[in-house]
Parts: sequence; structure tokens; C-alpha cells
Amino acid sequence: MNGKTETAFELSDGASGRSSQLPVRTGTIGPAALDIAGLHKDLDVFTYDPGFAATAATESRITYIDGDAGVLLYRGYPIEQLAGKSSFMEVAYLLLLGELPTGKQLAEFTGNIRYHTMINETLLRFFNGFHHNAHPMAMVSAVVASMSAFYHDTMDIYNPRHREIFSHRIIAKIPTIAAAAHKHSLGQPFIYPRNDLDYAANVLHMLFAVPCEPYKLDPVAAEALDLLFILHADHEQNASTSTVRLAGSTGANPYAAISAGVSALWGPAHGGANEAVLAMLEQIGSVDHIPKYLAMAKDKSSHFRLMGFGHRVYKNFDPRAKIIREMCHRVLTALGRSDNPLFELALRLEEIALKDEYFVSRKLYPNVDFYSGVIYSAIGIPRSMFTVMFAIARTVGWVAHWLEMISDPAMRIGRPRQLYTGPPRREYVEVSKRR
Ligand code: SDX
Repeated sequence: MNGKTETAFELSDGASGRSSQLPVRTGTIGPAALDIAGLHKDLDVFTYDPGFAATAATESRITYIDGDAGVLLYRGYPIEQLAGKSSFMEVAYLLLLGELPTGKQLAEFTGNIRYHTMINETLLRFFNGFHHNAHPMAMVSAVVASMSAFYHDTMDIYNPRHREIFSHRIIAKIPTIAAAAHKHSLGQPFIYPRNDLDYAANVLHMLFAVPCEPYKLDPVAAEALDLLFILHADHEQNASTSTVRLAGSTGANPYAAISAGVSALWGPAHGGANEAVLAMLEQIGSVDHIPKYLAMAKDKSSHFRLMGFGHRVYKNFDPRAKIIREMCHRVLTALGRSDNPLFELALRLEEIALKDEYFVSRKLYPNVDFYSGVIYSAIGIPRSMFTVMFAIARTVGWVAHWLEMISDPAMRIGRPRQLYTGPPRREYVEVSKRR
């Protein structure tokens, strides 16, 4: 791709006198990257970076984050501008294709998504096989993986038209699958998507409508959900996106790769945090309990962490958290819930934590998950579905990264190495001789 290679660092091994030239690859903005591809051959060493905190696993043109400045750009556009002026479908087009669409392009794209929202009736019957209280993320990851058993007519990953149809299908159908999981948990009949509703409104309709009466859509809730989808759509090489890339790099079908991303997102350290934040706020219960829980968060032996706080990249406010916090005020007031006790508690928790040396010295700020659950709750989405909402939005980012990787002729299977600290070679001992 476009990363330019200019100067190089030289790494020398004094003992052997060998050295390795490490080319420096520079991008558009942000840190340059040392190309270490020749290091093992030249000096017989690996680099060591558990958690990949300082490792660029790929080049990408999709999303840029400046963690110190709290900057997030989708294809160069600031998240604040997209949140204030765009729609989720427009952002999806931007992330997938790289440019903001014209009116005609957006109408065509939105139409393609709209006409793929139904899922095969046999796939719907899969839900009857799940226990009634299965977690929706378990159902969504399983059914997404099963899509490769239904849509194998367009799974030639090297065929651009197949890749385009896949991207429309998965973005269109993930809300239908998510809502079906919710309806199964309730024991209610599935609600089919409606072609007269836009993306976020359709999600609410499929989640909350029942066959016995007309569903009254709340435009405030639909607008809030569309904005939350924009904010959650992509975030460069986060754990679930890296999972999709790694799974996809083996040539596995794209539904399997997206299903792997759903599973990775589920973890409470990642997308599962929004559900964990609500549980934490309810556990804290009141402002006067905050000091006790902050003490637990600082006590390593407690294993308690302040959910929704901290981030591998942001060492400043997560710009998405700022937008969601402002949105909370607006949405809660519009929905007549401005005295929401959980939101008030979250605001006080943030205020107190950000004056505490432990959090300040570690640059632990609220992240995207800290406030999102307050809004999901206010629009009626149950806590078990919070991470599913995150997965609906992040499917766009996962698909964008998968498309970028698969269409790169230089793509290779991902295969990290290790620092081995196990036993040296030793001989097998017969069981009769073991002590
Ligand atoms: C998402 O990567 C992405 O982009 C993710 C995401 C996306 O859009 O894809 O932004 C979405 O996953 C947001 C993060 C949601 N997770 C949470 O809110 C869970 C709570 N946060 C933490 O578990 C943690 O902050 C992580 C997982 C988010 C980041 O972990 P790191 O980068 O590995 O940080 P760390 O564990 O090395 O922490 C550094 C220090 C440690 O203390 P010391 O060893 O230095 O004494 O900060 C402490 C940690 O113990 N710390 C916390 C804390 N987060 C970090 N202490 C208490 N509470 C916390 N939340």
C-alpha cells in the first residue's frame, strides 16, 4: 500500500558484529513504523510486544486515532463532525469505500442494504435450538458463523462482486439476527424487518414491535441509536478487528471471520464493557459508595476494575465518550428521564475518579462504553443486548478492514512468533521409571 520507506535505523549486535537495517515506514499522520521483517534473518532475534501495544500489524487507510490528543478520524473525517452531521448508512459507505457518497450513491447503497435485511427462514429456525436464556452474543456469533452454510453462492473472497454482496448481506442481516436473538430470549415471535424504515429505526422495530399492535417508533430513540452506531462503527486495530483480520488472513470465509470478531468483542475488557458498566453502576448504587469502589479498583488483589474507564490507546478523553455524555443529557431530557439515577451516578463517578491520583497518573479516562449503556437503557434496550448493539455497528468496521486486507495483493497469513521459556530438549521416560 502507500506507506513510504525512507531512512532506516541500524541495529547492531556488538557480540557478533552483525547488524540489521530497519527501514522506517512513514504514513500520512501519526507515528512512523520500524520495518522489522529482516530482523530475525539478520540477527536471529524477534521483537517482544505482548498485547501489541507498540506493534503496527498492518498498514490501513480506514481509521486514525491519536490517543494522547483524543482524536478519532474515519477516512480523515473527525468523529465529532460525522456524529453531528452524518448518518450511520453514510458513515458505513465512507468506511467501506473511502469517500463520502453523493446523494445518488447513498440512495443506491442504502437500497442495497435495505433489500438484504431478511434472513433465510431456515436460519431463523436455528434460534429454536438455543436455551431460552442463552446470552444474545452467543446466539449472534453462532448464527453469523452459520451464514456460511447458507450464502456459499458468493464466498469467493477473490471475486470483488462476491465481496460486495457479502458486505451488503452481513451489514443488512446482523440487526435481523440480533433482534431475533432478543425475541428468542423473550419467547416472542420474530419481527421481520420493514423496508420503509431506516437502519436504526428498523432495529428498534424488530426489537420491540409485537404482532398484536402497531409499534410506535420514537424518533428520539432512533436518532440516538443511529448516532451510537456511528460512534461504534470502527476503531482501527482493536482486539475484535484484529481478530477478524487474523481469521480472514487464513482465507476463511468472511462470515466465519466476522463471527470470530463477534466472539472477541464479547469480552468485558472490550465490547462487553458496556454491559459491565451498567452492572457496576447498579452495584455501586449510590454516590456515597463511590470511594469504596474506587479503593477496590486500585487494589490489585480485588480484581475489580472501573468498567468503562481506561483504554489501550486513549490517554486522554475518548472523544466518543464526550459525545455520548452530551447525548445522554439530550436523550434523557427528550425521553422525560432527565433524573436518571444511573446517569447522575456515572457523572459523579467520573468527576471523583478524574480527581484521584491513581486514575490521573495512569491517564485513565472514561471510554466509549462508560455512558453508552445509560442511553441503551433509556431507549429500552436490555443490558444483555448492549454488546450486541456494539456488534451491529462494528460489523461495518470489521467488513471495511476485511475488505482492505483481502484486496491487498501483499496479504499474507498472520502468524506471530514467541519467546520460548519452556523446557529444553529432553528424552522420553517410560512410565515405570517416572518418580
Ligand atoms: C473498548 O481497543 C479499542 O479501540 C477498544 C474500543 C473499540 O472501540 O474497539 O475502544 C472499545 O474495548 C473500550 C475499552 C472497554 N473496556 C473497559 O472499559 C474495561 C476496563 N478497562 C480496562 O480493563 C483497561 O483499561 C483496558 C482493557 C481498556 C486497557 O487495558 P491496558 O491498555 O492493557 O491497560 P493496563 O491493563 O496495562 O492498565 C494500565 C494500568 C494498570 O495499573 P498498573 O499495573 O500500572 O498499576 O492502569 C490500570 C491497570 O491496573 N487500569 C485500571 C483500569 N484500566 C487500567 N485500573 C482500574 N480500573 C480500570 N478500568
